Amino acid sequence: ARVAVLISGTGTNMAALLYAAKAESCPYQIVLVASNNPDAPGLALAAAEGVATWSLSHKGMSRAAFDVLVDEQLREAGAEFVALAGYMRILSDDFVARWAGRMLNIHPSLLPKYKGLDTHAQAIANGDRHGGCSVHVVTPALDDGPVLAQTPVAILPGDTAETLSARVRIAEHQLYPPTLAAFVMRERTPDYWLGRVREAAM
Ligand code: GRF
Repeated sequence: ARVAVLISGTGTNMAALLYAAKAESCPYQIVLVASNNPDAPGLALAAAEGVATWSLSHKGMSRAAFDVLVDEQLREAGAEFVALAGYMRILSDDFVARWAGRMLNIHPSLLPKYKGLDTHAQAIANGDRHGGCSVHVVTPALDDGPVLAQTPVAILPGDTAETLSARVRIAEHQLYPPTLAAFVMRERTPDYWLGRVREAAM
Protein backbone atom coordinates (compact mmCIF):
# COMPACT_ATOMS: atom_id res chain seq x y z
CA ALA A 1 0.00 0.00 0.00
CA ARG A 2 1.22 3.49 -0.86
CA VAL A 3 1.44 5.82 2.15
CA ALA A 4 2.16 9.55 2.30
CA VAL A 5 3.41 10.97 5.60
CA LEU A 6 2.69 14.56 6.66
CA ILE A 7 5.12 16.17 9.10
CA SER A 8 5.88 19.62 10.50
CA GLY A 9 9.03 19.00 12.51
CA THR A 10 11.65 16.50 13.53
CA GLY A 11 9.88 13.60 11.99
CA THR A 12 11.05 10.83 14.29
CA ASN A 13 7.73 9.01 13.86
CA MET A 14 8.04 9.40 10.09
CA ALA A 15 11.53 7.87 10.40
CA ALA A 16 10.12 4.95 12.40
CA LEU A 17 7.48 4.36 9.70
CA LEU A 18 10.09 4.62 6.97
CA TYR A 19 12.62 2.25 8.58
CA ALA A 20 9.88 -0.29 9.32
CA ALA A 21 8.90 -0.14 5.65
CA LYS A 22 12.35 -1.43 4.70
CA ALA A 23 11.42 -4.87 5.96
CA GLU A 24 10.33 -7.00 3.05
CA SER A 25 7.31 -8.21 5.01
CA CYS A 26 6.02 -4.65 5.53
CA PRO A 27 2.72 -4.17 3.66
CA TYR A 28 3.18 -0.42 3.10
CA GLN A 29 5.77 1.82 1.47
CA ILE A 30 6.33 5.53 2.02
CA VAL A 31 5.83 7.25 -1.33
CA LEU A 32 5.94 10.87 -0.17
CA VAL A 33 6.88 12.91 2.89
CA ALA A 34 5.15 16.29 2.74
CA SER A 35 5.41 19.25 5.09
CA ASN A 36 3.93 22.68 5.72
CA ASN A 37 7.35 23.65 7.10
CA PRO A 38 10.12 23.79 4.47
CA ASP A 39 12.69 23.68 7.30
CA ALA A 40 11.34 20.51 8.91
CA PRO A 41 14.42 18.38 9.70
CA GLY A 42 12.49 15.25 8.75
CA LEU A 43 12.51 16.30 5.09
CA ALA A 44 16.28 15.91 4.76
CA LEU A 45 16.13 12.49 6.41
CA ALA A 46 13.43 11.31 4.02
CA ALA A 47 15.32 12.65 1.00
CA ALA A 48 18.51 10.91 2.13
CA GLU A 49 16.51 7.68 2.29
CA GLY A 50 15.44 8.17 -1.31
CA VAL A 51 11.84 9.13 -0.50
CA ALA A 52 10.14 11.91 -2.48
CA THR A 53 9.54 15.06 -0.47
CA TRP A 54 7.42 18.15 -0.93
CA SER A 55 7.10 21.22 1.24
CA LEU A 56 5.45 24.59 1.14
CA SER A 57 4.87 27.13 3.89
CA HIS A 58 1.18 27.48 4.68
CA LYS A 59 1.70 31.12 5.67
CA GLY A 60 -0.42 33.69 3.85
CA MET A 61 -2.78 31.06 2.47
CA SER A 62 -6.21 29.92 3.57
CA ARG A 63 -6.41 26.52 5.25
CA ALA A 64 -8.64 25.20 2.47
CA ALA A 65 -6.38 26.48 -0.33
CA PHE A 66 -3.28 25.00 1.28
CA ASP A 67 -4.95 21.63 1.83
CA VAL A 68 -5.94 21.50 -1.86
CA LEU A 69 -2.26 21.83 -2.78
CA VAL A 70 -1.30 19.08 -0.34
CA ASP A 71 -4.03 16.85 -1.72
CA GLU A 72 -2.72 17.42 -5.27
CA GLN A 73 0.71 16.21 -4.16
CA LEU A 74 -0.76 13.14 -2.48
CA ARG A 75 -2.69 12.24 -5.63
CA GLU A 76 0.36 12.76 -7.85
CA ALA A 77 2.35 10.45 -5.60
CA GLY A 78 -0.40 7.84 -5.91
CA ALA A 79 -0.93 7.75 -2.16
CA GLU A 80 -3.67 5.43 -0.91
CA PHE A 81 -3.27 6.25 2.78
CA VAL A 82 -2.06 9.25 4.77
CA ALA A 83 -0.13 9.02 8.05
CA LEU A 84 0.03 12.21 10.10
CA ALA A 85 3.22 12.28 12.16
CA GLY A 86 3.65 15.50 14.10
CA TYR A 87 1.69 17.46 11.50
CA MET A 88 0.87 20.60 13.46
CA ARG A 89 -1.99 21.86 11.28
CA ILE A 90 -5.70 21.41 11.72
CA LEU A 91 -6.99 19.95 8.46
CA SER A 92 -9.86 21.40 6.44
CA ASP A 93 -13.10 19.42 6.47
CA ASP A 94 -12.80 18.81 2.72
CA PHE A 95 -9.37 17.28 3.10
CA VAL A 96 -10.51 15.04 5.96
CA ALA A 97 -13.56 13.96 3.94
CA ARG A 98 -11.41 13.17 0.91
CA TRP A 99 -9.19 10.84 3.02
CA ALA A 100 -11.95 9.53 5.30
CA GLY A 101 -11.09 6.08 6.60
CA ARG A 102 -7.63 6.25 5.00
CA MET A 103 -5.83 8.69 7.29
CA LEU A 104 -4.24 7.94 10.68
CA ASN A 105 -2.65 10.16 13.33
CA ILE A 106 -0.41 9.52 16.31
CA HIS A 107 -1.13 11.52 19.45
CA PRO A 108 0.96 11.63 22.64
CA SER A 109 -1.73 10.78 25.20
CA LEU A 110 -4.05 7.97 26.14
CA LEU A 111 -7.03 9.29 24.19
CA PRO A 112 -9.74 10.35 24.91
CA LYS A 113 -7.66 12.07 27.59
CA TYR A 114 -5.77 15.23 26.64
CA LYS A 115 -6.60 16.08 23.07
CA GLY A 116 -4.59 18.97 21.62
CA LEU A 117 -1.28 20.26 22.98
CA ASP A 118 0.69 19.92 26.26
CA THR A 119 -0.51 16.40 26.91
CA HIS A 120 2.42 15.31 29.10
CA ALA A 121 2.29 18.37 31.38
CA GLN A 122 -1.43 17.77 31.92
CA ALA A 123 -0.96 14.08 32.72
CA ILE A 124 1.73 14.95 35.30
CA ALA A 125 -0.24 17.86 36.81
CA ASN A 126 -3.29 15.62 37.24
CA GLY A 127 -1.29 12.96 39.07
CA ASP A 128 -1.96 10.31 36.42
CA ARG A 129 -0.06 7.07 36.85
CA HIS A 130 0.41 6.74 33.10
CA GLY A 131 0.89 8.91 30.07
CA GLY A 132 1.12 7.26 26.69
CA CYS A 133 0.31 7.45 23.04
CA SER A 134 -2.55 6.56 20.71
CA VAL A 135 -2.94 5.92 17.00
CA HIS A 136 -6.38 6.87 15.72
CA VAL A 137 -8.33 7.27 12.52
CA VAL A 138 -8.66 10.95 11.61
CA THR A 139 -12.16 12.44 11.67
CA PRO A 140 -13.13 16.14 11.42
CA ALA A 141 -12.94 16.76 15.20
CA LEU A 142 -9.36 17.17 16.53
CA ASP A 143 -7.77 14.01 17.99
CA ASP A 144 -11.20 12.44 18.18
CA GLY A 145 -11.45 9.52 15.71
CA PRO A 146 -11.63 5.81 16.59
CA VAL A 147 -8.55 4.65 18.49
CA LEU A 148 -6.77 1.71 16.85
CA ALA A 149 -4.00 1.14 19.39
CA GLN A 150 -2.50 2.65 22.54
CA THR A 151 0.59 2.21 24.70
CA PRO A 152 0.48 3.31 28.36
CA VAL A 153 3.82 4.66 29.66
CA ALA A 154 4.32 4.81 33.45
CA ILE A 155 4.97 8.25 34.91
CA LEU A 156 8.04 8.22 37.18
CA PRO A 157 8.56 10.32 40.32
CA GLY A 158 10.28 13.53 39.21
CA ASP A 159 9.16 13.21 35.61
CA THR A 160 8.87 16.48 33.71
CA ALA A 161 6.98 16.98 30.47
CA GLU A 162 10.35 16.62 28.72
CA THR A 163 11.47 13.36 30.36
CA LEU A 164 8.03 11.80 30.01
CA SER A 165 7.75 12.91 26.39
CA ALA A 166 11.12 11.30 25.58
CA ARG A 167 9.88 7.92 26.90
CA VAL A 168 6.50 8.25 25.23
CA ARG A 169 8.30 8.98 21.95
CA ILE A 170 10.01 5.58 22.19
CA ALA A 171 6.59 3.98 22.63
CA GLU A 172 5.25 5.97 19.66
CA HIS A 173 7.99 4.61 17.43
CA GLN A 174 7.09 1.06 18.47
CA LEU A 175 3.35 1.58 18.09
CA TYR A 176 2.86 3.45 14.82
CA PRO A 177 4.47 1.11 12.23
CA PRO A 178 2.61 -2.10 13.16
CA THR A 179 -0.66 -0.22 13.61
CA LEU A 180 -0.35 1.34 10.16
CA ALA A 181 0.64 -2.03 8.71
CA ALA A 182 -2.41 -3.73 10.22
CA PHE A 183 -4.63 -0.88 9.03
CA VAL A 184 -3.58 -1.13 5.38
CA MET A 185 -3.90 -4.93 5.57
CA ARG A 186 -7.58 -4.65 6.52
CA GLU A 187 -8.41 -3.97 2.88
CA ARG A 188 -6.84 -7.23 1.80
CA THR A 189 -9.82 -9.51 1.49
CA PRO A 190 -9.75 -13.17 0.44
CA ASP A 191 -10.35 -11.95 -3.13
CA TYR A 192 -7.21 -9.86 -2.95
CA TRP A 193 -5.13 -12.88 -1.98
CA LEU A 194 -6.77 -15.05 -4.67
CA GLY A 195 -5.84 -12.37 -7.20
CA ARG A 196 -2.25 -12.45 -6.00
CA VAL A 197 -2.13 -16.23 -6.35
CA ARG A 198 -3.50 -15.96 -9.91
CA GLU A 199 -0.97 -13.23 -10.78
CA ALA A 200 1.84 -15.41 -9.52
CA ALA A 201 0.61 -18.33 -11.63
CA MET A 202 0.57 -16.27 -14.85
C1 GRF B 1 4.75 13.23 18.51
O1 GRF B 1 4.75 13.30 19.90
C2 GRF B 1 3.37 12.93 18.00
O2 GRF B 1 2.64 12.12 18.85
C3 GRF B 1 2.77 14.30 17.96
O3 GRF B 1 3.81 15.15 17.51
C4 GRF B 1 5.06 14.58 17.87
C5 GRF B 1 5.86 14.44 16.61
O4 GRF B 1 7.18 14.08 16.84
N1 GRF B 1 1.59 14.30 17.13
P1 GRF B 1 8.13 13.65 15.64
O5 GRF B 1 8.20 14.84 14.66
O6 GRF B 1 7.55 12.44 15.00
O7 GRF B 1 9.45 13.41 16.26
